[in-house]
Amino acid sequence: MTTYRIAPSILSADFARLGEEVRNVVAAGADWIHFDVMDNHYVPNLTFGPMVCQALKPHAKTPDGVPVPIDVHLMVQPVDALAQAFAEAGADLISFHPDASTHAHRSVQAIKARGVKAGLTFNPAASLDVLDWLIDDIDLILIMSVNPGFGGQGFIDSALRKIEDARRRIEACGRDIRLEVDGGIKPDNIRRVADAGADTFVAGSAIFGKPDYKAVIDQMRVALA
Ligand code: DX5
Ligand code: ZN
Repeated sequence: MTTYRIAPSILSADFARLGEEVRNVVAAGADWIHFDVMDNHYVPNLTFGPMVCQALKPHAKTPDGVPVPIDVHLMVQPVDALAQAFAEAGADLISFHPDASTHAHRSVQAIKARGVKAGLTFNPAASLDVLDWLIDDIDLILIMSVNPGFGGQGFIDSALRKIEDARRRIEACGRDIRLEVDGGIKPDNIRRVADAGADTFVAGSAIFGKPDYKAVIDQMRVALA
């Protein structure tokens, strides 16, 4: 039985009230907090850095005090210095785009050496071939179903084939690896994405664009049930 996880992206939250937004979306049922780091170099947008992650860390817990993982998605180039800074800032998972690192294997090892789970992220036109060499070392595969850089874009259907391919690779390797999908996920397409093999779902505008976060997360869970 798959345990599905919903990871709201605070890219679409109200930046003037980020701590409160994190607390509210956790209270609404978020399993992870997805933290989109953009550098105006690898992607044409600029968001937030490790100091913001550190400031939000105390807010990423349930009303009973149970910590909620911070899922950092690095859209930056180069990777290693910022990955290290995010590990120190309290990230629980850090994923990066292998094409943004000169030495992707070294970047994975550097993340894991700091006790943080490591993930690889694949753009819509990126091949999964690097997994031939790295799947035994990672904890997460993040498939982009939009081009990285902005929230609120439409889901790219070819991501479904890539999710199926990634699921086959995870099954063949037999390790516990999360398969996360990022971009254009809504209550009305989340089931299709799960059927392709995903178990973890990033959603930004679908959740933060509505007044009642819990209603949207509940709709997603009903679709997944
Ligand atoms: C895009 C980001 C996504 C984004 C998804 O570069 O990685 O996490 O926030 O936003 P929605 O859910 O609005 O497509
Ligand atoms: Zn993301």
